[in-house]
Amino acid sequence: MKIEIKDKITKCDLLVIPFYEGKKLPSNQSVALKNQYQGDFGAKPNETVMLYQKNKITPRILLVGLGKHDKSNLDTWRQAGGSALKHVKKPIKTITILPPKEDLELLGAFVEGFLLAHYRYEDFITDDDRKLHKLEALNVVLSSKDLRSKAAGHFKEMEIIANAVKDTRDMINAPSNAMSPAEIGRAAQGIAKSSTKMTCKVFDQKKLEKLKMGCLLGVGAGAKEGPKLVILEHKYKAQNKKPIVLIGKGICFDAGGIHIKTHNLVEMKYDMTGAATVLGVFRILAKLKLPLHVIGIAACAENLLGEAATKPGDILKNYNGTTVEVTNTDAEGRLVLSDAIAYAVKQYKPQGIVDVATLTGAAITALGYDMSAFMANDEKWGNKVKEAAEAAYEPIWELPTYEPYKKHLKSQIADVANYSRGPSAGTIMGGLFLEHFTKGTPWAHLDMGGSAWTKESLPYIPKGATGKNVRTLWKFLENEVK
Ligand code: BES
Ligand code: ZN
Ligand code: ZN
Repeated sequence: MKIEIKDKITKCDLLVIPFYEGKKLPSNQSVALKNQYQGDFGAKPNETVMLYQKNKITPRILLVGLGKHDKSNLDTWRQAGGSALKHVKKPIKTITILPPKEDLELLGAFVEGFLLAHYRYEDFITDDDRKLHKLEALNVVLSSKDLRSKAAGHFKEMEIIANAVKDTRDMINAPSNAMSPAEIGRAAQGIAKSSTKMTCKVFDQKKLEKLKMGCLLGVGAGAKEGPKLVILEHKYKAQNKKPIVLIGKGICFDAGGIHIKTHNLVEMKYDMTGAATVLGVFRILAKLKLPLHVIGIAACAENLLGEAATKPGDILKNYNGTTVEVTNTDAEGRLVLSDAIAYAVKQYKPQGIVDVATLTGAAITALGYDMSAFMANDEKWGNKVKEAAEAAYEPIWELPTYEPYKKHLKSQIADVANYSRGPSAGTIMGGLFLEHFTKGTPWAHLDMGGSAWTKESLPYIPKGATGKNVRTLWKFLENEVK
């Protein structure tokens, strides 16, 4: 879809007018609109009304509510953009937005919401009628010449970010028979190929054995498809001396292992959300090259049952030598991430680590589906992630790295155990297990157990994979550029 900046309304299938509550219709509107507009549209957040007019250059006009002016923010605009898209049906190919306020940030959010909402996972849909219909042009009317000259670049950026979020959703929505560890590796290689500042390495089973990544290997042992450690590296005029490392959990299917799950198994294809999120951030990095040194690591495996599968009570050896008793094979995310974290700490001596993972179902119990659970071992590092999440309007909520619970990580017969019934605080225990392998490196953790997936359609997030935290981590990196 082409995004174009115009100085006036031109012929199009739909004219979209975002509208503040309590404000009058823009004075530059046609008589037809004034005649049809009965005042029963309250412009409440995401409220919409479609008006039709014959023989005009804009046969349809959609009013979209922005809510109260003093309560509006980037996200009310982003949501309004998403709500507008929901009314874009088949015959509509060209759309023009006529904003009430010429503010590039707000308008960019509206465009972003519009693009993010225009999404459907359709790789396996064969009926053309069920496919998302293609849009040809999105025009934005700006009267200010100065803004017109800046707008194209800003909207392009929004488009790149929205496309990366949608590619991330595609990976997560993909069934596990189309999104294996090897497939994640191929996707990462494709991303690296699109940038001259990026490289990619994919460690296969053999290499992982050589490196002695016993935890990742142990999780992957029950599956035919071998585990993979996927490493992306972006380095371009780096302002940071030590790299930033982003790590994602890439469990392409989580059956629970020998501790087999008993419900919601169909959903467990999305257990590679963390890996897809990291790749999503690198998709943006490949196009909007930030002057930073950033490493992305995806720890990928399938957690299945097989005669070679790791059994409850087995002891695995982490990359850094720590022995881990597998007291629950379904707590596999922390195992694969522990090798990735230990590798990052030793290999890159990073400025800091952020990991993203659908680590615990307990995150849903604690915070529901909107929020990601957040933990950090370093206030300054953690605050950067919090600030980024706030700016992206992707809510996160901090849980403590509560010292007294750390004793429950101990195992009778190994250095640590991956699960202990004792403290019940499932999300905190998952985080504490990961922190154990950071060895004091600044670390922050996003548990997307609840926030990776939505069962209801939201203004700019259709049902299924949310694609959350790509924008947060992108903002986080952007803020690192001085
Ligand atoms: N992938 C799951 C966590 C999960 C569950 C995410 C439901 C999203 C929805 C994870 O590997 C897991 O099974 N965690 C266990 C941990 C427990 C065995 C300590 C859980 O949350 O029940
Ligand atoms: Zn599990
Ligand atoms: Zn899992």
